[in-house]
Amino acid sequence: MKAEILFKPDGKTVQARPGTSLLDAARRAGVAIRTRCGGKAACLMCKVQVAPDAQQGLQPMNTNESLKLGSLAEEGFRLACQAKATGKAGVCVLVPEDPLKSAVRRQLERQQEEEWL
Ligand code: FES
Repeated sequence: MKAEILFKPDGKTVQARPGTSLLDAARRAGVAIRTRCGGKAACLMCKVQVAPDAQQGLQPMNTNESLKLGSLAEEGFRLACQAKATGKAGVCVLVPEDPLKSAVRRQLERQQEEEWL
């Protein structure tokens, strides 16, 4: 059994078998998720957000993921390297913008605003 995983804001999708991590699914879909620890739940760079109603498409958090995320888990965050598909329901995943890209975008927006003044 496979289920669709949708990655926003890219809008890319991939079919995932049970046990496939969101990180592996993202790579197959061509979606970039930052990592530094190679999927060992150590760097916390692979945080993604999953809507509460879509959590049924993911296996429950393991203890390590839960401890690492702390209160972020209540906001729907999961570690893409640890969250695994159940294959029973689709999942919509929001991949946060890369902090460097975000900083560049904000700077460009500020410059455009200054040009209009
Ligand atoms: S890849 Fe480092 S915590 Fe997930």
